[in-house]
Amino acid sequence: MKLCPKEFEAMQSGFRKWYIRKIELPTFRKFGLYIKDRDILEVGCGSGYAASLITAEAPRSYTGLDIMPEQLALARKRKLPNARFVEGSADDLSAFPDGSLDAVLDFCILHHVEGWRSFFDECRRVLKDGGCIYIADLSRSCIHAIDALLRWEHAEEALFSFAELEREANRRGFRTVKKAIDLGAEGYFRFQKE
Ligand SMILES: C[S@@+](CC[C@H](N)C(=O)[O-])C[C@H]1O[C@@H](n2cnc3c(N)ncnc32)[C@H](O)[C@@H]1O
Repeated sequence: MKLCPKEFEAMQSGFRKWYIRKIELPTFRKFGLYIKDRDILEVGCGSGYAASLITAEAPRSYTGLDIMPEQLALARKRKLPNARFVEGSADDLSAFPDGSLDAVLDFCILHHVEGWRSFFDECRRVLKDGGCIYIADLSRSCIHAIDALLRWEHAEEALFSFAELEREANRRGFRTVKKAIDLGAEGYFRFQKE
């Protein structure tokens, strides 16, 4: 789902960049993410800030996928030498071959994806054996609070509790390797393909 203009603006802020750099990416690393020489897909890559941090560590390949051409245009402007940016939805990874990726990363976008359950099926297909999904995302209750406060408009069908998220991942062939909830708001998960 496309972002409302106010959320689009907030996603370009220094605070959002700081949060990715200082909190979310370090949490993924603590959970076991290795980037060098790995094949990485970031879903909902937005304007490519995380891409700039990830590609600086020499992955074998990095692809950023996003549904909004405006975000992809900003990401491509960064001219990162070893990044590929593709338009598409996180619940349809048909552009990616079976067993081609080591890790799929979500920096706070799954709560925009109405087909978030199918996202796990798609990840199961495109990940190599033992490949992992790293998720940093917000729960339904947190998004309701944000929408009440800021009037951002999230689609109810895309929202989940962390228990629902984990149950769907487990049902669809992933085991939970690590999880943590930050201040009751952001949830972090590492799910491994079984
Ligand atoms: C909250 S922003 C986060 C952007 C970036 N990951 C960050 O942390 O700054 C959500 C992003 O997800 C993208 N998005 C929304 N629905 C999507 C979908 N179904 N598939 C892929 N990207 C999607 C939006 O265009 C936007 O760039």
